[in-house]
Amino acid sequence: MVTTSDGHENNLSQCLVLEDFEAQAKKKLPKHIYEYVASGAGDEQCLRANTRIFQQLFIIPRVLSSCSEPNTSIQVGATKLSFPFLVAPFGVHKLVHPQGEEATARACLEEGITLGISQHSTVQLEQVRKVAPRGSHWFQCYILKDRDITLRLVKRAEEAGYEALVITVDSPIFGYRPSDTRNGFQRLPKGLEYENYKNEVKELNAFANEGDTGGFDDYIDRIFDANITWDDLCLVKKQTRLPVFVKGIQSVEDSLLAIKYGFNGIIISNHGGRQLGSAAPTMQCLPSIVQVIRKLNPQNFSILIDSGFRSGEDIIKALAVGADAVCIGRPILWGLACGGVLGVKKVLAILKRELRDGMKLCGCASLEDIRGLQLVTNGNLA
Ligand code: FNR
Repeated sequence: MVTTSDGHENNLSQCLVLEDFEAQAKKKLPKHIYEYVASGAGDEQCLRANTRIFQQLFIIPRVLSSCSEPNTSIQVGATKLSFPFLVAPFGVHKLVHPQGEEATARACLEEGITLGISQHSTVQLEQVRKVAPRGSHWFQCYILKDRDITLRLVKRAEEAGYEALVITVDSPIFGYRPSDTRNGFQRLPKGLEYENYKNEVKELNAFANEGDTGGFDDYIDRIFDANITWDDLCLVKKQTRLPVFVKGIQSVEDSLLAIKYGFNGIIISNHGGRQLGSAAPTMQCLPSIVQVIRKLNPQNFSILIDSGFRSGEDIIKALAVGADAVCIGRPILWGLACGGVLGVKKVLAILKRELRDGMKLCGCASLEDIRGLQLVTNGNLA
Protein backbone atom coordinates (compact mmCIF):
# COMPACT_ATOMS: atom_id res chain seq x y z
CA MET A 1 0.00 0.00 0.00
CA VAL A 2 1.40 3.40 -1.04
CA THR A 3 0.13 6.88 -0.12
CA THR A 4 0.23 9.31 -3.05
CA SER A 5 0.56 13.10 -3.12
CA ASP A 6 -3.23 13.45 -3.12
CA GLY A 7 -3.29 11.65 0.24
CA HIS A 8 -4.92 8.51 -1.10
CA GLU A 9 -3.70 5.02 -0.50
CA ASN A 10 -3.37 2.74 -3.46
CA ASN A 11 -2.23 -0.69 -4.50
CA LEU A 12 -1.15 0.36 -7.96
CA SER A 13 1.99 -1.75 -7.86
CA GLN A 14 -0.28 -4.81 -7.97
CA CYS A 15 -2.07 -3.58 -11.09
CA LEU A 16 -0.35 -5.12 -14.10
CA VAL A 17 -3.25 -5.59 -16.50
CA LEU A 18 -6.49 -3.60 -16.73
CA GLU A 19 -8.58 -6.25 -14.95
CA ASP A 20 -6.41 -5.75 -11.84
CA PHE A 21 -7.64 -2.17 -11.47
CA GLU A 22 -11.24 -3.34 -11.30
CA ALA A 23 -10.39 -5.90 -8.61
CA GLN A 24 -8.64 -3.21 -6.52
CA ALA A 25 -11.41 -0.66 -7.11
CA LYS A 26 -14.02 -3.20 -6.01
CA LYS A 27 -12.25 -3.54 -2.65
CA LYS A 28 -11.98 0.21 -2.27
CA LEU A 29 -15.35 1.60 -3.37
CA PRO A 30 -18.68 1.32 -1.52
CA LYS A 31 -20.69 -1.57 -3.02
CA HIS A 32 -23.41 0.65 -4.55
CA ILE A 33 -20.83 2.87 -6.28
CA TYR A 34 -18.79 -0.08 -7.58
CA GLU A 35 -21.94 -1.70 -8.93
CA TYR A 36 -23.26 1.54 -10.44
CA VAL A 37 -20.14 1.67 -12.61
CA ALA A 38 -19.68 -2.07 -13.20
CA SER A 39 -23.23 -3.16 -13.87
CA GLY A 40 -25.23 -3.40 -17.05
CA ALA A 41 -28.84 -3.22 -18.13
CA GLY A 42 -31.42 -6.01 -17.84
CA ASP A 43 -29.91 -9.45 -17.36
CA GLU A 44 -26.49 -8.11 -18.44
CA GLN A 45 -26.28 -10.36 -21.52
CA CYS A 46 -24.71 -7.52 -23.51
CA LEU A 47 -22.35 -6.51 -20.69
CA ARG A 48 -20.94 -10.04 -20.47
CA ALA A 49 -20.71 -10.53 -24.24
CA ASN A 50 -18.84 -7.20 -24.72
CA THR A 51 -15.74 -8.54 -22.98
CA ARG A 52 -16.19 -12.24 -23.68
CA ILE A 53 -16.06 -11.78 -27.44
CA PHE A 54 -12.40 -10.75 -27.25
CA GLN A 55 -11.57 -14.09 -25.61
CA GLN A 56 -12.93 -15.84 -28.71
CA LEU A 57 -10.95 -13.75 -31.20
CA PHE A 58 -7.32 -14.60 -32.00
CA ILE A 59 -4.74 -12.78 -34.11
CA ILE A 60 -2.55 -14.44 -36.75
CA PRO A 61 0.70 -12.48 -36.38
CA ARG A 62 3.08 -11.57 -39.21
CA VAL A 63 6.86 -11.62 -38.74
CA LEU A 64 10.09 -10.23 -40.23
CA SER A 65 8.79 -6.81 -41.13
CA SER A 66 11.11 -4.32 -39.39
CA CYS A 67 8.85 -2.77 -36.80
CA SER A 68 11.04 -1.68 -33.90
CA GLU A 69 9.42 1.78 -33.68
CA PRO A 70 5.79 1.39 -34.74
CA ASN A 71 3.94 4.54 -35.76
CA THR A 72 0.79 4.63 -33.61
CA SER A 73 -0.68 8.00 -34.56
CA ILE A 74 -3.85 8.65 -36.53
CA GLN A 75 -5.92 11.70 -37.52
CA VAL A 76 -9.56 11.60 -36.39
CA GLY A 77 -11.57 14.72 -37.23
CA ALA A 78 -9.46 17.70 -36.16
CA THR A 79 -7.55 15.63 -33.61
CA LYS A 80 -4.26 13.88 -34.13
CA LEU A 81 -4.40 10.93 -31.74
CA SER A 82 -0.96 9.79 -30.58
CA PHE A 83 -2.41 6.30 -30.11
CA PRO A 84 -5.53 4.86 -31.72
CA PHE A 85 -7.56 5.20 -28.55
CA LEU A 86 -9.14 7.91 -26.42
CA VAL A 87 -11.04 8.03 -23.15
CA ALA A 88 -14.79 7.51 -23.58
CA PRO A 89 -17.04 10.20 -22.16
CA PHE A 90 -18.72 9.21 -18.92
CA GLY A 91 -20.40 11.28 -16.27
CA VAL A 92 -19.65 11.56 -12.62
CA HIS A 93 -15.91 10.80 -12.23
CA LYS A 94 -16.26 12.20 -8.71
CA LEU A 95 -18.34 9.19 -7.73
CA VAL A 96 -15.09 7.21 -7.58
CA HIS A 97 -12.49 9.86 -6.65
CA PRO A 98 -12.82 13.32 -5.04
CA GLN A 99 -10.72 14.99 -7.77
CA GLY A 100 -12.97 13.54 -10.47
CA GLU A 101 -12.46 14.77 -14.03
CA GLU A 102 -9.63 17.11 -12.92
CA ALA A 103 -7.49 14.08 -12.07
CA THR A 104 -8.47 12.27 -15.27
CA ALA A 105 -7.65 15.37 -17.33
CA ARG A 106 -4.21 15.74 -15.73
CA ALA A 107 -3.44 12.07 -16.36
CA CYS A 108 -4.58 12.25 -19.99
CA LEU A 109 -2.51 15.38 -20.58
CA GLU A 110 0.60 13.72 -19.16
CA GLU A 111 0.06 10.59 -21.25
CA GLY A 112 -0.92 12.53 -24.39
CA ILE A 113 -4.33 10.89 -24.70
CA THR A 114 -7.55 12.63 -25.79
CA LEU A 115 -10.26 12.78 -23.11
CA GLY A 116 -14.02 12.71 -23.69
CA ILE A 117 -15.92 14.88 -21.22
CA SER A 118 -19.58 14.14 -20.63
CA GLN A 119 -22.35 16.68 -20.35
CA HIS A 120 -22.88 14.96 -16.98
CA SER A 121 -19.37 15.62 -15.70
CA THR A 122 -18.83 16.46 -12.04
CA VAL A 123 -16.25 19.14 -12.92
CA GLN A 124 -17.37 21.99 -15.18
CA LEU A 125 -16.28 21.62 -18.79
CA GLU A 126 -14.39 24.95 -18.61
CA GLN A 127 -12.55 23.85 -15.46
CA VAL A 128 -11.33 20.71 -17.22
CA ARG A 129 -9.71 22.93 -19.86
CA LYS A 130 -8.24 25.13 -17.13
CA VAL A 131 -6.45 22.27 -15.37
CA ALA A 132 -5.18 20.79 -18.64
CA PRO A 133 -5.09 23.68 -21.17
CA ARG A 134 -2.68 21.86 -23.45
CA GLY A 135 -4.74 18.68 -23.33
CA SER A 136 -6.95 17.36 -26.10
CA HIS A 137 -10.65 17.20 -25.18
CA TRP A 138 -13.89 16.16 -26.87
CA PHE A 139 -17.27 17.20 -25.47
CA GLN A 140 -20.18 14.75 -25.37
CA CYS A 141 -23.78 15.87 -25.16
CA TYR A 142 -27.27 14.48 -25.32
CA ILE A 143 -30.05 16.35 -27.08
CA LEU A 144 -32.30 17.77 -24.39
CA LYS A 145 -35.96 18.69 -24.71
CA ASP A 146 -34.83 22.26 -24.21
CA ARG A 147 -32.70 22.67 -27.34
CA ASP A 148 -31.43 26.07 -26.19
CA ILE A 149 -29.63 24.42 -23.29
CA THR A 150 -28.06 21.86 -25.63
CA LEU A 151 -26.86 24.58 -27.97
CA ARG A 152 -25.52 26.67 -25.09
CA LEU A 153 -23.51 23.67 -23.85
CA VAL A 154 -22.11 23.11 -27.34
CA LYS A 155 -21.12 26.77 -27.64
CA ARG A 156 -19.46 26.67 -24.22
CA ALA A 157 -17.46 23.61 -25.28
CA GLU A 158 -16.43 25.35 -28.51
CA GLU A 159 -15.34 28.48 -26.67
CA ALA A 160 -13.45 26.50 -24.05
CA GLY A 161 -11.32 24.82 -26.73
CA TYR A 162 -12.84 21.36 -27.15
CA GLU A 163 -11.80 19.75 -30.43
CA ALA A 164 -14.90 17.72 -31.26
CA LEU A 165 -18.51 17.17 -30.33
CA VAL A 166 -19.92 13.72 -29.63
CA ILE A 167 -23.70 13.37 -29.65
CA THR A 168 -24.91 10.24 -27.86
CA VAL A 169 -28.04 8.75 -29.39
CA ASP A 170 -28.52 5.43 -27.60
CA SER A 171 -30.27 6.86 -24.56
CA PRO A 172 -33.87 7.87 -25.30
CA ILE A 173 -34.48 6.51 -21.80
CA PHE A 174 -32.23 5.66 -18.87
CA GLY A 175 -31.28 1.97 -19.19
CA TYR A 176 -32.77 -0.15 -16.39
CA ARG A 177 -29.97 -1.54 -14.22
CA PRO A 178 -31.43 -3.84 -11.57
CA SER A 179 -28.36 -3.65 -9.34
CA ASP A 180 -28.96 0.07 -8.75
CA THR A 181 -32.54 -0.69 -7.69
CA ARG A 182 -31.32 -3.50 -5.43
CA ASN A 183 -28.80 -1.12 -3.85
CA GLY A 184 -31.31 1.72 -3.57
CA PHE A 185 -28.92 3.89 -5.60
CA GLN A 186 -31.23 6.23 -7.50
CA ARG A 187 -29.69 9.68 -7.17
CA LEU A 188 -26.34 11.40 -6.93
CA PRO A 189 -24.80 11.34 -3.46
CA LYS A 190 -25.11 14.56 -1.44
CA GLY A 191 -22.57 17.14 -2.53
CA LEU A 192 -22.23 15.84 -6.10
CA GLU A 193 -23.84 17.64 -9.01
CA TYR A 194 -23.84 17.61 -12.77
CA GLU A 195 -21.63 20.70 -12.78
CA ASN A 196 -22.36 21.81 -16.35
CA TYR A 197 -25.97 22.51 -15.38
CA LYS A 198 -25.02 25.06 -12.74
CA ASN A 199 -26.25 28.46 -13.89
CA GLU A 200 -28.72 26.63 -16.16
CA VAL A 201 -32.48 26.42 -15.59
CA LYS A 202 -33.74 25.26 -12.21
CA GLU A 203 -35.21 22.03 -13.54
CA LEU A 204 -31.77 20.71 -14.44
CA ASN A 205 -30.34 21.56 -11.06
CA ALA A 206 -33.29 20.20 -9.13
CA PHE A 207 -32.00 16.65 -9.32
CA ALA A 208 -29.37 17.08 -6.67
CA ASN A 209 -31.80 18.73 -4.32
CA GLU A 210 -33.48 16.87 -1.51
CA GLY A 211 -36.90 18.08 -2.62
CA ASP A 212 -36.72 16.04 -5.83
CA THR A 213 -38.30 12.65 -5.21
CA GLY A 214 -37.54 11.04 -8.57
CA GLY A 215 -34.54 8.84 -9.38
CA PHE A 216 -32.06 8.89 -12.29
CA ASP A 217 -34.69 7.45 -14.64
CA ASP A 218 -37.34 10.10 -13.83
CA TYR A 219 -34.79 12.83 -14.18
CA ILE A 220 -33.60 11.60 -17.57
CA ASP A 221 -37.22 11.19 -18.71
CA ARG A 222 -37.87 14.80 -17.78
CA ILE A 223 -34.88 16.35 -19.53
CA PHE A 224 -33.90 14.03 -22.42
CA ASP A 225 -35.88 14.05 -25.63
CA ALA A 226 -36.89 10.51 -26.60
CA ASN A 227 -38.36 11.82 -29.86
CA ILE A 228 -35.17 13.09 -31.47
CA THR A 229 -34.42 12.18 -35.08
CA TRP A 230 -31.58 12.78 -37.54
CA ASP A 231 -33.16 16.20 -38.26
CA ASP A 232 -32.51 17.26 -34.67
CA LEU A 233 -28.95 16.01 -34.84
CA CYS A 234 -28.41 17.92 -38.08
CA LEU A 235 -29.72 21.11 -36.48
CA VAL A 236 -27.12 20.84 -33.71
CA LYS A 237 -24.43 19.97 -36.24
CA LYS A 238 -25.26 23.13 -38.23
CA GLN A 239 -24.70 25.26 -35.16
CA THR A 240 -21.14 24.18 -34.52
CA ARG A 241 -17.84 24.41 -36.34
CA LEU A 242 -16.55 21.35 -34.44
CA PRO A 243 -16.35 17.93 -36.09
CA VAL A 244 -19.37 15.92 -34.89
CA PHE A 245 -19.37 12.20 -34.08
CA VAL A 246 -22.52 10.17 -33.46
CA LYS A 247 -22.14 7.79 -30.50
CA GLY A 248 -24.32 4.75 -30.00
CA ILE A 249 -24.60 3.54 -33.60
CA GLN A 250 -24.79 -0.25 -34.03
CA SER A 251 -26.41 -0.94 -37.40
CA VAL A 252 -25.25 -0.63 -41.00
CA GLU A 253 -28.38 1.39 -41.80
CA ASP A 254 -27.70 4.03 -39.14
CA SER A 255 -24.03 4.18 -40.15
CA LEU A 256 -25.09 4.99 -43.71
CA LEU A 257 -27.38 7.74 -42.44
CA ALA A 258 -24.50 9.27 -40.46
CA ILE A 259 -22.54 9.44 -43.72
CA LYS A 260 -25.53 10.74 -45.68
CA TYR A 261 -26.06 13.60 -43.23
CA GLY A 262 -22.41 14.60 -43.29
CA PHE A 263 -21.25 13.63 -39.82
CA ASN A 264 -17.52 13.20 -39.26
CA GLY A 265 -17.78 9.73 -37.88
CA ILE A 266 -19.56 7.24 -35.69
CA ILE A 267 -18.76 5.65 -32.37
CA ILE A 268 -20.11 2.12 -32.53
CA SER A 269 -21.24 1.65 -28.96
CA ASN A 270 -23.82 -0.11 -26.80
CA HIS A 271 -22.97 2.22 -23.90
CA GLY A 272 -20.94 -0.54 -22.26
CA GLY A 273 -24.04 -2.75 -21.98
CA ARG A 274 -25.86 -0.14 -19.89
CA GLN A 275 -28.81 0.57 -22.18
CA LEU A 276 -30.33 -2.39 -24.11
CA GLY A 277 -29.66 -5.51 -22.03
CA SER A 278 -29.39 -7.85 -25.02
CA ALA A 279 -27.73 -5.50 -27.51
CA ALA A 280 -25.11 -7.20 -29.69
CA PRO A 281 -21.48 -6.83 -28.67
CA THR A 282 -20.04 -4.02 -30.78
CA MET A 283 -17.26 -6.24 -32.17
CA GLN A 284 -20.04 -8.23 -33.86
CA CYS A 285 -21.52 -5.08 -35.39
CA LEU A 286 -18.17 -3.82 -36.66
CA PRO A 287 -17.41 -6.11 -39.67
CA SER A 288 -20.60 -5.40 -41.64
CA ILE A 289 -20.38 -1.65 -40.93
CA VAL A 290 -16.75 -1.56 -42.09
CA GLN A 291 -17.57 -3.53 -45.22
CA VAL A 292 -20.28 -1.13 -46.35
CA ILE A 293 -18.39 2.04 -45.39
CA ARG A 294 -15.20 0.87 -47.14
CA LYS A 295 -17.14 0.45 -50.36
CA LEU A 296 -18.45 4.02 -50.16
CA ASN A 297 -15.06 5.34 -49.05
CA PRO A 298 -16.41 8.66 -47.66
CA GLN A 299 -13.80 11.39 -47.12
CA ASN A 300 -12.91 12.38 -43.56
CA PHE A 301 -15.24 9.87 -41.96
CA SER A 302 -13.93 7.87 -39.00
CA ILE A 303 -15.16 4.66 -37.45
CA LEU A 304 -14.67 4.55 -33.70
CA ILE A 305 -15.84 1.81 -31.39
CA ASP A 306 -16.19 1.10 -27.66
CA SER A 307 -17.72 -1.32 -25.15
CA GLY A 308 -15.69 -4.09 -23.56
CA PHE A 309 -12.14 -3.11 -24.59
CA ARG A 310 -9.76 -4.18 -21.83
CA SER A 311 -6.29 -4.40 -23.40
CA GLY A 312 -4.03 -3.05 -26.12
CA GLU A 313 -4.50 -6.31 -28.00
CA ASP A 314 -8.29 -5.81 -27.93
CA ILE A 315 -7.63 -2.49 -29.67
CA ILE A 316 -5.49 -4.25 -32.29
CA LYS A 317 -8.36 -6.67 -32.97
CA ALA A 318 -10.78 -3.80 -33.68
CA LEU A 319 -8.26 -2.07 -35.94
CA ALA A 320 -7.65 -5.35 -37.77
CA VAL A 321 -11.37 -5.49 -38.57
CA GLY A 322 -11.31 -1.87 -39.79
CA ALA A 323 -11.99 0.55 -36.93
CA ASP A 324 -9.90 3.73 -36.85
CA ALA A 325 -9.80 4.12 -33.08
CA VAL A 326 -11.26 2.79 -29.84
CA CYS A 327 -12.79 4.56 -26.83
CA ILE A 328 -11.82 3.14 -23.44
CA GLY A 329 -14.56 3.06 -20.81
CA ARG A 330 -14.71 1.59 -17.30
CA PRO A 331 -10.98 0.79 -16.87
CA ILE A 332 -10.35 4.54 -16.68
CA LEU A 333 -12.78 4.88 -13.77
CA TRP A 334 -11.19 1.87 -12.03
CA GLY A 335 -7.76 3.49 -12.43
CA LEU A 336 -9.14 6.76 -11.07
CA ALA A 337 -10.69 4.96 -8.10
CA CYS A 338 -7.43 3.12 -7.35
CA GLY A 339 -5.03 6.02 -7.49
CA GLY A 340 -6.37 9.31 -8.90
CA VAL A 341 -4.01 10.85 -11.47
CA LEU A 342 -1.45 8.06 -10.99
CA GLY A 343 -4.09 5.37 -11.40
CA VAL A 344 -5.42 6.75 -14.69
CA LYS A 345 -1.87 7.32 -15.94
CA LYS A 346 -1.02 3.71 -15.21
CA VAL A 347 -4.08 2.42 -17.07
CA LEU A 348 -3.15 4.54 -20.10
CA ALA A 349 0.53 3.54 -19.92
CA ILE A 350 -0.37 -0.16 -19.82
CA LEU A 351 -2.64 0.23 -22.85
CA LYS A 352 0.09 2.07 -24.76
CA ARG A 353 2.68 -0.58 -23.95
CA GLU A 354 0.34 -3.46 -24.80
CA LEU A 355 -0.55 -1.82 -28.08
CA ARG A 356 3.05 -1.09 -29.05
CA ASP A 357 4.26 -4.54 -27.98
CA GLY A 358 1.33 -6.15 -29.78
CA MET A 359 2.17 -4.27 -32.97
CA LYS A 360 5.79 -5.41 -32.81
CA LEU A 361 4.77 -9.00 -32.13
CA CYS A 362 2.37 -8.86 -35.08
CA GLY A 363 4.95 -7.38 -37.44
CA CYS A 364 3.10 -4.05 -37.75
CA ALA A 365 5.12 -0.88 -38.30
CA SER A 366 1.98 1.24 -38.69
CA LEU A 367 -1.74 1.20 -37.96
CA GLU A 368 -2.26 0.56 -41.67
CA ASP A 369 -0.31 -2.72 -41.27
CA ILE A 370 -2.76 -3.79 -38.54
CA ARG A 371 -5.54 -3.68 -41.12
CA GLY A 372 -3.77 -6.45 -42.99
CA LEU A 373 -3.86 -8.83 -40.01
CA GLN A 374 -6.17 -11.79 -40.02
CA LEU A 375 -8.26 -12.80 -37.02
CA VAL A 376 -9.55 -16.28 -36.31
CA THR A 377 -12.41 -17.31 -34.12
CA ASN A 378 -12.93 -20.91 -33.04
CA GLY A 379 -10.66 -21.98 -35.86
CA ASN A 380 -12.46 -20.04 -38.61
CA LEU A 381 -11.44 -16.81 -40.28
CA ALA A 382 -13.28 -13.85 -38.70
C1 FNR B 1 -20.99 5.74 -19.30
N1 FNR B 1 -21.14 6.02 -20.64
C2 FNR B 1 -21.56 7.27 -21.03
N2 FNR B 1 -21.67 7.57 -22.36
C3 FNR B 1 -22.04 8.81 -22.75
O1 FNR B 1 -22.10 9.05 -23.96
N3 FNR B 1 -22.31 9.77 -21.83
C4 FNR B 1 -22.25 9.55 -20.49
O2 FNR B 1 -22.49 10.45 -19.69
C5 FNR B 1 -21.89 8.25 -20.07
N4 FNR B 1 -21.84 7.94 -18.74
C6 FNR B 1 -21.35 6.72 -18.33
C7 FNR B 1 -21.20 6.46 -16.97
C8 FNR B 1 -20.67 5.25 -16.55
C9 FNR B 1 -20.49 4.98 -15.09
C10 FNR B 1 -20.26 4.27 -17.52
C11 FNR B 1 -19.64 2.95 -17.11
C12 FNR B 1 -20.44 4.53 -18.86
C13 FNR B 1 -20.74 5.03 -21.67
C14 FNR B 1 -19.26 5.19 -22.05
O3 FNR B 1 -19.04 6.35 -22.79
C15 FNR B 1 -18.79 4.03 -22.94
O4 FNR B 1 -19.64 3.91 -24.05
C16 FNR B 1 -18.77 2.69 -22.20
O5 FNR B 1 -18.26 2.84 -20.90
C17 FNR B 1 -17.89 1.72 -22.97
O6 FNR B 1 -17.95 0.45 -22.43
P1 FNR B 1 -16.85 -0.16 -21.42
O7 FNR B 1 -15.52 0.09 -22.02
O8 FNR B 1 -17.05 0.54 -20.12
O9 FNR B 1 -17.23 -1.60 -21.37
